[in-house]
Amino acid sequence: MRRVIIDTDPGTDDALALMMALNSPDLVVEGITTVGGNATLSETTENALRLMEHLDGPDSAIPIAVGADRPLHGTYTHAYHVHGSDGLGISLPAPTLKPLSMNAVEFLRDRIAASPGELTVIAIGPLTNVAAALDNRPDIADAIPEIIVMGGAVGVRGNITPHAEFNIHEDPWAANAVFESGIPVTLVGLDVTHQTFMHRNGGPRWFEGDSKSAQLGNGILTDRFRELDGEDEFHLHDPLAVAAAIEPDVLTCRAARVSVVTDGEERGRTIASYGEGSVKVAVGVDVERAVGIVRSVISQ
Ligand code: RIB
Ligand code: CA
Repeated sequence: MRRVIIDTDPGTDDALALMMALNSPDLVVEGITTVGGNATLSETTENALRLMEHLDGPDSAIPIAVGADRPLHGTYTHAYHVHGSDGLGISLPAPTLKPLSMNAVEFLRDRIAASPGELTVIAIGPLTNVAAALDNRPDIADAIPEIIVMGGAVGVRGNITPHAEFNIHEDPWAANAVFESGIPVTLVGLDVTHQTFMHRNGGPRWFEGDSKSAQLGNGILTDRFRELDGEDEFHLHDPLAVAAAIEPDVLTCRAARVSVVTDGEERGRTIASYGEGSVKVAVGVDVERAVGIVRSVISQ
């Protein structure tokens, strides 16, 4: 059983990742922290509240803390063209759930310090909150056993520019801080997530059963394939990060030191120096097993 905090910018693939984390008997979700990225912070936070109420009920005891509305420098660029006009596409009822009064950084520090060595952070949006939680707090860095990051494009083309993957591009300074922290990081980048997807022709029942997660997952993919008529693949970026938390050996990783270009045309480019370092770069994935985990954990 792995205790996790999920830092997220929901986001359609974030939504599937949250479903997996809530459904998996191998994970205990101890908190959700929201960050801007796919959409504005207020939109990603509203989406997180709506998703958690829909999936875990109005009495959900899982705390939700609000994080950064901008990167360490500048602003987020958002990805409405991918996720829909509010970042989620499908509409869910307005939530009654409220976020905590403490912010995401305070929440991360509070929970990690209270359970040293116990809480894995699964970061599936820009790394602004995580970097801020680590800032001038070596005790927090020492207390995190692993950060599983969906981000980066090491040996493949980027998705927001030819050089960069979206999450890393949105806050390259935060990414450098996390990769340089010495915390064990598993980097689940486009190198592997571009191989894991649901195909348009696999629907409309990509997920079996009539559970809330299966129905919502099918609804999200149906909406995305209807809106994105040139796209036949829904990439399982964030769900693969959660799959790696459930079954780490679904990935093949290489140890590396990773640095990120912070400005100019190559902003967000992730550069890996293999052979040593605290970052395990995912260089391969058992595609059939990984997609099978996503499908089975969401289908209920
Ligand atoms: O590049 C894919 C990542 O960017 C995913 O986390 C997706 O949700 C977006 O945030
Ligand atoms: Ca995301």
